[in-house]
Amino acid sequence: MVHQHTTLKTIHELAELRQHVAQWRHQGERIVLVPTMGNLHAGHLALVQQARQLAPRVIASLFVNPTQFGPNEDFSAYPRTLAEDQAKLTAAGCDLLFAPPLATVYPQGAELTTRVEVPGLSDRLCGAFRPGHFAGVAQVVCKLFNMVQPDIAMFGEKDRQQLLVIQRMVADLNLPIEVVGSPTVREADGLAMSSRNAYLDAAQRRVAPQLYQALCVARDKLMAGEQDYSAIEQAAVQQLSEVGFRPDYVRIVRAQDYADPAPPDTRLVIAVAAWLGRARLIDNVVVERNAQRSD
Ligand code: PAF
Repeated sequence: MVHQHTTLKTIHELAELRQHVAQWRHQGERIVLVPTMGNLHAGHLALVQQARQLAPRVIASLFVNPTQFGPNEDFSAYPRTLAEDQAKLTAAGCDLLFAPPLATVYPQGAELTTRVEVPGLSDRLCGAFRPGHFAGVAQVVCKLFNMVQPDIAMFGEKDRQQLLVIQRMVADLNLPIEVVGSPTVREADGLAMSSRNAYLDAAQRRVAPQLYQALCVARDKLMAGEQDYSAIEQAAVQQLSEVGFRPDYVRIVRAQDYADPAPPDTRLVIAVAAWLGRARLIDNVVVERNAQRSD
């Protein structure tokens, strides 16, 4: 048997992307978009594989979006690994990679480009610690949706607040796109896969799974009927601090809008963001109170 070595079709310009999309549409094929910032790991590839189940054509995008990084964040340091990403996407069954240059996404410059704000939700938790972050995400995802015009778009549930922001944007702006969340992919020791795990040194990597363990302890307390959310959050902050994390927050919120829970809310999220060395790690678990665990 002869193995054919295929290189992933990679497109940098919008006009060429639109030709491909138009051809697929003409053939009646539905399209799924998997937006990424590259430096792909098994979590991204799970998104692509899940996308393949949902529609015959899968487009991944790769764009490290400057407008979602704060002035002192890791935009310039963010790992850029195009060749490796292309190989992984090919193996995962992606049909096309859209990797636009900065000037294609922001021809007027990012500062002068129309903004997209999702109020309320964008200001909580990660939004409070990273002002402007979710506005940058909403802006670029809105643009990617308009450039690619997919039927479906997939996002990982590790970034659950981002997923909610995008779902709200799509609903508010009546965008004809189904936004689908995909379960967090974890390493064998429980650490959620993330491009930022690459910032951890060997000692930090050994400590990192304790982020998920702290969430599991908090989840068990909720499942056991503990009512004092603030005490649960504080205990998790302390547990993380003791092993070397610098937590931004541990919060118990209601799942649908990340607001403070109150009866009769039963579907809750425990969300965490914490620094370990120069890596800011995030994670979350969903808890159904008065019900079985959902993840
Ligand atoms: O989750 C990410 O990688 C990014 O925030 C996204 C959705 C690709 C927008 O830049």
